[in-house]
Amino acid sequence: MSERLEDIAAAIVAGGKGLLAADESSGTIKKRFDVIGVESTAGSRRDYREMMFRASEAMSRYISGVILYDETIRQKAADGTPLVDIIKAAGSIPGIKVDLGAKPLAGFPGDTITEGLDGLRERLADYYKLGARFAKWRAVIDIEIGKGVPSANSIASNTHALARYAALCQEAGIVPIVEPEVLMDGAHSIDTCYDVSKATLVRLYDELYAARVVLEGSILKPNMVISGRKSGRTDSPEEVAEKTIKLFREVVPAAVPGIAFLSGGQEDEEATANLNAINAIGPHPWKLTFSYGRALQAAPQKAWSGKASNVAAGQAAFTHRAHMNHLAALGKWKPALEKAA
Ligand code: 13P
Repeated sequence: MSERLEDIAAAIVAGGKGLLAADESSGTIKKRFDVIGVESTAGSRRDYREMMFRASEAMSRYISGVILYDETIRQKAADGTPLVDIIKAAGSIPGIKVDLGAKPLAGFPGDTITEGLDGLRERLADYYKLGARFAKWRAVIDIEIGKGVPSANSIASNTHALARYAALCQEAGIVPIVEPEVLMDGAHSIDTCYDVSKATLVRLYDELYAARVVLEGSILKPNMVISGRKSGRTDSPEEVAEKTIKLFREVVPAAVPGIAFLSGGQEDEEATANLNAINAIGPHPWKLTFSYGRALQAAPQKAWSGKASNVAAGQAAFTHRAHMNHLAALGKWKPALEKAA
């Protein structure tokens, strides 16, 4: 496969394929395992992720790349094969989460700043050797308008860090997935989500230009424009699609090859229906696909529940969700296909 940044970025979003975000930190995967009653150990984390990476139909037909965590990119399958080699053998691309998490932003209660720039050049060189050809950095923008969250300083600092990260990635021959996540946890309206997402993306592309990031060799990983969960509103897929696309047409340059959404706490089918509605109102200047964590993994986690005898059931659940999201990335999904399975 080509090593040009532009070609890797194009391959990540081609043909209705999308990304599996399996880069939960050890703390986050423990929370997921607690729900299914599985102890989180290096071995159980390996077994769980190996199950998905060996689901060959899903991996070869629907999953263009996998975002890994530092532990996983160095791990071997039960039979000694590096997990990275299993991903590559399926024709999928290994990627790596390189941020070190969101910490409280000094002086701005309620805002966070994502850390991890110090030493990043050296870590990227190491990850390249381990097989990573794309990376992810997640900035977290919460909304609590009454408390002044997010502050202008939070948006400026987080987008500046994203641009420095993206430039370092491209220097290392790695495609940056640029993720400014506006959280859907708050009580805000869909229009407030629109406004905050717009302010964030406008600033982000200013920073990326200033840092000389080659947009053709980058991927945007955004939230959809959607009501906060605590608002009690569930938006129709058509409304999410209309507002999300209106925003992107205003602020995301056509030079960006693809947009791969996070699921952010949407229900499995909701995330699929919204992606489908977004693609159904195309054509668009960029490919629009998925980079889902929870919306791809909730079902296989439950089906697997830590038992070797459930590996086939876990793989079937993963394959189904990957297939549904693949169809949604092409605008060809229908609710009846969920029931048929
Ligand atoms: P979710 O789809 O669960 O939001 O995770 C995607 C991700 O990688 C967030 O950084």
